[in-house]
Amino acid sequence: MSVKEQVNNRRTFAIISHPDAGKTTMTEKLLLFGNIIREAGTVKGKKSGKFATSDWMEIEKKRGISVTSSVMSFPYKDYYVNILDTPGHEDFSEDTYRTLTAVDSVVMIIDSTKGVEPQTIKLFKVCRMRGIPIFTFINKLDREGKDPLELLAEIEDVLGIESYPMNWPVGMGKRFEGIIDRFNNQFVRFLGDEKEEITPLEQLDKAGNPTIESVFDELELLDEAGNEFSEERVMKGELTPVFFGSALANFGIRTFFDTFIRFASPPKPRKTDDGLVSPDSETFTGYIFKIQANMNPAHRDRIAFLRICSGKFTRGMNVRLTRTNKTMNLNQTQQFLASSRETVDEAYAGDIIGLYDPNMYQIGDTITAGKEDIHYRELPQFPPEMFRKVRVKNVMKSKQFKKGIEQLVQEGAIQLFKQESNDDTILGAVGQLQFEVFEYRMKAEYNVDIEFTHLGDRIPRWLAEPPKDLRLFDSRSLLVKDRYDRYAVLFENDFTLRYFKDKNKDVELIDLFEAN
Ligand code: G4P
Repeated sequence: MSVKEQVNNRRTFAIISHPDAGKTTMTEKLLLFGNIIREAGTVKGKKSGKFATSDWMEIEKKRGISVTSSVMSFPYKDYYVNILDTPGHEDFSEDTYRTLTAVDSVVMIIDSTKGVEPQTIKLFKVCRMRGIPIFTFINKLDREGKDPLELLAEIEDVLGIESYPMNWPVGMGKRFEGIIDRFNNQFVRFLGDEKEEITPLEQLDKAGNPTIESVFDELELLDEAGNEFSEERVMKGELTPVFFGSALANFGIRTFFDTFIRFASPPKPRKTDDGLVSPDSETFTGYIFKIQANMNPAHRDRIAFLRICSGKFTRGMNVRLTRTNKTMNLNQTQQFLASSRETVDEAYAGDIIGLYDPNMYQIGDTITAGKEDIHYRELPQFPPEMFRKVRVKNVMKSKQFKKGIEQLVQEGAIQLFKQESNDDTILGAVGQLQFEVFEYRMKAEYNVDIEFTHLGDRIPRWLAEPPKDLRLFDSRSLLVKDRYDRYAVLFENDFTLRYFKDKNKDVELIDLFEAN
């Protein structure tokens, strides 16, 4: 097969959801389609309980588990599927966001009993920012949930994306009978025990079944007042196809996945500093979106996750890291087959490979087999939400403290800010785990004990121009500089942000989610 054909068959996606919506259950069902059998519960370290803050081995264990499953690849029909895991729960970190820069489409799972939840909103924003196709799966139809029309309205209002139901549920909970597959014109009856029965719509006997009759009334309403299906708008991420089903009961999953795989995006051209690079270009290129440090404490190895953006990778090929202009031979590479890490000999744009990293790579690095100096523009800075002041306990260790912060910040483990009024060091993160890992690594790798002062959750906004009057800022609207010396303000809450905006209409504030 040509590079172009290989690339067009790639489907690289992530599943986003709020904890407990059913991501693990769905992933396990999809792996079954790939004939990859796993013991239940191996997709992630499930509900292993909270770990003690300083217990690195536990963090390691948790991360170790999520690493082997962080990319799951398998052939399905004519396609080659790569599922990237987006760490959630207490694992939520900037890596979760960064992973979303490496995928071409996203499946958003919503719990029908809960509707759109906070973590889904955060992840959705990142996908929206990238303009990638978003497919919605409304899960747990076997339970009594919210009204389907209400769920659609919630998706449209809260997330601000238009929706097109590809199927429609007939009843729910105990009265759940199945789904009308609008797209394929068939009724899929729910029989339980992972079984379903398909009847073409024209052969369906509606009379005498009031539930089905009322569903047809709803469908008529959708046909008249709802959005039209448009593949083009799905591709741009303006319209989300919505599917209903139950991951646990394995109901509606096959129809969903077959339709998803058909409409999901193959790898697209990606932006570099000098324009777009097409995925089927002959030259192998890619960028590092995540570095997993200390995967094995005995070896202190690191693995850099590379998203291939163009061309074909073959093991042992010579490539160049454009940031340092260093050339190297890619011999120690791994692919993440769903059950284990295996050496990879060949891979194509859309695939993810793991590079053994002797402390050489940084997040965002571009690698190329070509002569040109390209640099992918894939990794924006994500706005942190939690902030803490940090200081070294023993001032004699200030030097190591500085060095540790510098390296961990560069690695992308955490974000660094300086308070403008007193030069205090402030760390920003999107997830709690980032602080814990930071504290542990400062101790383990730099032998430095640190002390945190909580600043709580804050809303950061960057200033378009340096501030003219420092008196505008106080502890509720803390003026800081980021590591690139850009000014930002950490607002205590929505109220202080709005108040500030009202009072200072001439100060332009930038929300990174919108600016990227
Ligand atoms: P997550 O990865 O998004 O956090 O969710 P996960 O798949 O772990 O699912 C969370 C809980 O919801 C699990 O139950 C799971 O069995 C259940 N679940 C998932 N899909 C469905 C569905 O379609 N219908 C129903 N009724 N439940 C579903 P748990 O009791 O928390 O965990 P477990 O002990 O059963 O694994």
